[in-house]
Amino acid sequence: MTKDNKPTIFSGVQPSGTLHIGNYLGAISNWVDLQDKYNSIFCVVDYHAITVRQKPKELNRNILDVVKIYMASGINPEKAVIFQQSNISAHTELAWILNCTARMSDLFKMTQFKDKTKVDLEKIIEEIEKRTLKTFGNSETYIISSEVKKLVKELSNSLNNVRKSGIGLFDYPVLMASDILLYNTDLVPVGEDQKQHVELARTLARRFNSQFGKVFRIPEVEIRKEGARIMGLDDPTKKMSKSANPANYIALTDSPEVATKKIMKTVTDSGCDIKYDKKNKPAISNLLTIYSLLTGEDIKKLESKCECECKGYGDFKKKLAEAVGEFLISFQKKYNSFGDDEIKEILKNGAEKVKPVADETLRRVKEKLGIKI
Ligand code: TYM
Repeated sequence: MTKDNKPTIFSGVQPSGTLHIGNYLGAISNWVDLQDKYNSIFCVVDYHAITVRQKPKELNRNILDVVKIYMASGINPEKAVIFQQSNISAHTELAWILNCTARMSDLFKMTQFKDKTKVDLEKIIEEIEKRTLKTFGNSETYIISSEVKKLVKELSNSLNNVRKSGIGLFDYPVLMASDILLYNTDLVPVGEDQKQHVELARTLARRFNSQFGKVFRIPEVEIRKEGARIMGLDDPTKKMSKSANPANYIALTDSPEVATKKIMKTVTDSGCDIKYDKKNKPAISNLLTIYSLLTGEDIKKLESKCECECKGYGDFKKKLAEAVGEFLISFQKKYNSFGDDEIKEILKNGAEKVKPVADETLRRVKEKLGIKI
């Protein structure tokens, strides 16, 4: 709680790739809804972005553009703090300290690391054990078959991928834990893909508190009921992603024409009725979710409206494209109204506001560790 008795929320976006409506619907628009009720801190997490190689000029531009996206979405810098992660050195200092509490096994479990490196060491080892360890009576024997040889080869390839992977990519959830824990955060509003990272922050906070004495508040994750996992337009079984092929996402900076083309090309499910059924109709359910969140109309109402007014998926997609187009026009009008100098000033003020809180947490951590002289 802050002086004005408001609980604190903290969240952030990486200034890498192209921000899309998944980022907006799953996370940023939720922050807008929460900013009145909470002491709100929104970060541009540039140190996270460099876990993958970035072009310096592009990165510099992206940092400012992410702030413009926050503001065009409705984040009000009078109510919420917006700042740049690398401006507050306590983030990397605390991350180092938490590294000494985190375990390799904590990080190998992280889905994002597994996705990016295509490595799931624990699963391969589990498979090898499952396929080799046979029980005969009371004794266990290892059997080497050609299937197992294949798994061992896979393991060796995976280890090669791990060897090539940057340490930052592996360690990044610890930096994220540091971001969250520095600000006595009560709630972390994120999309579903980040839930596991927030859980790690909770684990590290508890571990530190029990080893050295209580410093950290244990944060809760806040995930929207709808929109927490917007799926790719080209593959509704995978989440919409910044780093995917542009046909996968509707960028917040796409023109309505480009967005319309992408929507008309989205994969569709079999059958032709417009029904929300995530399991059997993942593509149409995803489109209905986007439609509903952008227009504020209830999914049930949309289903019956589409049943009367649309002849199949083509008609439905046209209506969705119109709604998306309207949203993009109004969003981009606001986005283009901000100048770089104004954004730089907001980042500077934001850093000044959060620095004392971050420094104080770090001071208490150092005291507990015994390194504060
Ligand atoms: P990032 O930059 O990948 O994504 C920013 C936010 O967008 C959400 N999101 C989605 N939501 C719904 N559907 C999707 N397809 C989709 N794709 C992305 C993400 O869940 C996220 O909330 N590690 C974080 C950034 C971070 C952070 C933090 C967040 C760093 N430190 C501390 C919270 C607190 C990330 O890479 O998000």
